[in-house]
Amino acid sequence: MATENSTNTTSEKIRDYGSRKKTLMRMGGREMVRKQHELGKLTARERLDLLFDTATFQEVQLFTKHRSTLFGLGEKDIPAEGVITGFGRVDGRVVFAAAQDFTCSGGSLGEMQAKKIWKVMDMAIAAKKPFVSLNDSGGARIQEGVPALDGYGGIFYRNTLASGYIPQITATMGPTAGGAVYSPALTDWVFMVKRSSYMCITGPDVIKAVIGEEVTNEALGGALVHSTKSGVCHFAMDNDRDCINRIRTLLSYLPDSCHSPLPIMPTSDKPDRECPDLNSIIPDKPSKSYDMKRIILEIADNHEMLEPHALWAKNMIVAFIRIMGCPVGVVANNPRFGAGVLDVSASDKAARFIRFCDAFNIPLLTFADVPGYLPGTRQEWAGIITHGAKMLHAYSEATVPKLTIVVRKDYGGAYIGMCSKQLGADYVMAWPSAEIAVMGAEGACNIIYRREIQEAKDSAAKRKELAQTYEAQFNNPYFAAGLGIIDEIILPMDTRKRIAFLLEALKEKSEHRLPKKHNNIPL
Ligand code: HXC
Repeated sequence: MATENSTNTTSEKIRDYGSRKKTLMRMGGREMVRKQHELGKLTARERLDLLFDTATFQEVQLFTKHRSTLFGLGEKDIPAEGVITGFGRVDGRVVFAAAQDFTCSGGSLGEMQAKKIWKVMDMAIAAKKPFVSLNDSGGARIQEGVPALDGYGGIFYRNTLASGYIPQITATMGPTAGGAVYSPALTDWVFMVKRSSYMCITGPDVIKAVIGEEVTNEALGGALVHSTKSGVCHFAMDNDRDCINRIRTLLSYLPDSCHSPLPIMPTSDKPDRECPDLNSIIPDKPSKSYDMKRIILEIADNHEMLEPHALWAKNMIVAFIRIMGCPVGVVANNPRFGAGVLDVSASDKAARFIRFCDAFNIPLLTFADVPGYLPGTRQEWAGIITHGAKMLHAYSEATVPKLTIVVRKDYGGAYIGMCSKQLGADYVMAWPSAEIAVMGAEGACNIIYRREIQEAKDSAAKRKELAQTYEAQFNNPYFAAGLGIIDEIILPMDTRKRIAFLLEALKEKSEHRLPKKHNNIPL
């Protein structure tokens, strides 16, 4: 017996298929799409169009439907279950993606939406290709109850299985609250869009009820907050279009998986290009700062770099560059902020970046100009011991080629922390301006010559005289080079040349660690 949807001929069936598809492709309808645009946001399909090379997107599971009947959901159609999933090409390379569609029930995540996301995540893992999630959702679909929570559980599980195996990128392009913020946090890179996105564990109403604090969504978890204060967000972008473009740029530095070759970008830059400007970048006065980013840009192919976390823990720089087309991860102190000192946030920022690079076989290049670890109760109570140890662990565990260049100060524990030889650096170089010591001259003399200084007629003059002797001994790279702790002292202008040849020489490096389940990094 014919039903309302039944058709007889093949051409009718094909027409019926077309009309069903057309309905689903309209998403939440014209009015909802208009609302989305009014908020300055693109729809999920528009975002995917920008992400993928033209006409390469292949949609997966368009016809999925929810099966909940609770709280009026039985009568509610949610086209494509509020998420568009599939795969396509980004600059010719295959990438998998899920984009939540806020125009359909606020992109809320129920059992079947979750299953669609699981499906493309499983495909990305099987295919060993990157996974990109564009989030724009009111969170767990309230009417469904526990199946929605179960859905998130399955996403977190897959995020974790995929960690270190395929690159995972999340862009939060709308509200994200509750447990829904944990999928982004489990991925490698988090993008946010200024003014239209926020992320928080509990929203302003709950906060007011529980602890009496009044705060707006923006002040609590907006893009600027998470890119300057918490470090949750790596890239805070001005709008959806910029956000997607930056995701494409990031992908250009990443391999498809930990078992895939690095993407090599053809370049006209030369491996033996000299960088004469670097010979004069270090100020004569040791306390004067300079811009470490100039050094990084000078040595990079075409003077290009991509800097995650540019606004958080600014005393530490992490960045991707290319040397002769090959991606390289750079870790560098930034003397412009807090003299480049190592603190809790800087250590966390560097450690996470080092582990990402190591997981995906991206060589590491470290530039050191560091006065030490930041002293004081605030840092001690915040656990600088554990956080600083994280960085030591990350460097020691990393088996990718590791090059270190000491450009100026390299003091104390921070000298070790910035990938010293004994943390497994393959080659450590120093500029003639390098100073490598347990601590600065004045502080050192106050300790080792306390009595002589106290007993001297002119304590200040005595301290100065002793400090000069100390400086002559340690405030140069020659003592360390004499012991082989520094492999080479190089002219700043030769830095790119040296790095290019060393990376080429170390290309086949392979190191194995002790057989075990996994390391226990201090978290
Ligand atoms: C079901 C939802 C929804 C949700 C939004 N909608 N969030 N439906 N479950 N979580 C629906 C609305 O009912 C509405 O449906 C449509 O989406 C658009 O929502 P509006 O409220 O009209 O939009 P707007 O004013 O822009 O506000 C967006 C919002 C708000 C700020 C996201 O909707 C909101 O506060 N939602 C609830 C957020 C939340 O508390 N989520 C649960 C978090 S807990 P109609 O049919 O009218 O178009 C969580 C647990 C995860 O996620 C745990 C994992 C371990």
